[in-house]
Amino acid sequence: MADSLRGKTALITGAARRLGEAISLALARQGVNVVVHYHRSEAAAQALCGQIERLAVSATRLQADLSDSRQTQGLLNRAGPIDILINNASVFEQETLWETTEASLARNMQIHAAAPLVLARAFAQQDRPGHIVNLLDTRVTTYDREHAAYHISKRVLLTLTRMLALELAPKIVVNAVAPGLILPPPGQDEGYLKKLTYTNPLKRHGDPADVAEAILFLLNSRFITGQIIYVDGGYHIKGHTYD
Ligand SMILES: NC(=O)c1ccc[n+]([C@@H]2O[C@H](COP(=O)([O-])OP(=O)(O)OC[C@H]3O[C@@H](n4cnc5c(N)ncnc54)[C@H](OP(=O)(O)O)[C@@H]3O)[C@@H](O)[C@H]2O)c1
Repeated sequence: MADSLRGKTALITGAARRLGEAISLALARQGVNVVVHYHRSEAAAQALCGQIERLAVSATRLQADLSDSRQTQGLLNRAGPIDILINNASVFEQETLWETTEASLARNMQIHAAAPLVLARAFAQQDRPGHIVNLLDTRVTTYDREHAAYHISKRVLLTLTRMLALELAPKIVVNAVAPGLILPPPGQDEGYLKKLTYTNPLKRHGDPADVAEAILFLLNSRFITGQIIYVDGGYHIKGHTYD
């Protein structure tokens, strides 16, 4: 039997827009109070908090730059006690291994790996049972040569998911969701998705709701930890490399 999520509190990083917004609303519909973390999207975060409150749960918004370790360190204290941590914030920078710089590698590592680690440890220190879900990318199973620093750091997050699942057990379960073709990157439109539907066996793209549903499944489970759910139309089986 699944535990009810009603009355729990979730901190969702990068929550104001896109997948973060869909995840926030999906949790709020289940009665979860949401701490909406954002970096630059203040107006969107404010609007989202209004939508969440109309679902009769509480919404708090917190700004922080997760590429700045001091701001990351302070985020959990500012959020207060939580039951759920969703590490969703991300940057998706186009650069091959030949183009990537130490600065971009450091930034990607900070946002995709160091921040989830620091937040997970701070969560564990609150000494409450709970759930962590990390957002990976189905391309951790293949090779994304166009986004080298992103790819490296998401692979670190994959390893970190398993390490945290061991280290934080039995109190906190740690899982991941690895989306595939869901939303076009900023600046691209629906045509980007249509062009790439051939890369997965289901020959279509998913929706933010598909990702949110997988997260809810994990949050409602009691005996799953260290697991990765690929929400990718089967891309990870096929192992397409985009070459
Ligand atoms: N979209 C997809 O189809 C897809 C596919 C595979 C994997 N994923 C993964 O799923 C997650 C959500 O995807 P998405 O496309 O919705 O993500 P996104 O739009 O690329 O980023 C989500 C949020 O991260 C925040 N962020 C960026 N830099 C930050 C920083 N320095 N400090 C704090 N927050 C920062 C931004 O917040 P502000 O807007 O407030 O600045 C942004 O809105 C990501 O982890 C992504 O890797 C997505």
